Amino acid sequence: MTYYIGADHAGIEIKAFVKELFEKRGHEVIDLGPFKKDRVDYPDFAAKVCETVLENKDTKGILICGTGLGMSMAANKFDGIRAALCHNTFSAQMAREHNDANILCLGERVSGYGMVEAIVDAWDKSEFQGGRHSQRVDKINKLSSCRI
Ligand code: RB5
Repeated sequence: MTYYIGADHAGIEIKAFVKELFEKRGHEVIDLGPFKKDRVDYPDFAAKVCETVLENKDTKGILICGTGLGMSMAANKFDGIRAALCHNTFSAQMAREHNDANILCLGERVSGYGMVEAIVDAWDKSEFQGGRHSQRVDKINKLSSCRI
């Protein structure tokens, strides 16, 4: 699997660690930045990663900010993106098995290195289960064009 990874200044420390974890598991990881610690706005990097995932079939993304919240909010604005903020292994497993999440969001100020490693392991080991979950994911995808 090819993953595109991005962060903001509050997620940049753990970005290299997460990249290495995925690479060790046999994935290709393409870093879309940032590459220095200057303050940046997380929606800019969420957009870069989401647009690239949507342009490249069968790829996924990883977004890291301080809490993971801003990244997940921004990412879920994109039609076809299902971004899951995971602070624990059960969420990571369910995000893949039930929600077919295509973006993993992490919070560097929330999860330590050990937990991040366990989350990556749970995410990578888990596959979408399809079946009844497919129709629910289809319904999520249809919500993208809802306006009130
Ligand atoms: C940056 O200070 C911080 O607000 C950002 O990384 C993120 O946590 C936003 O959701």
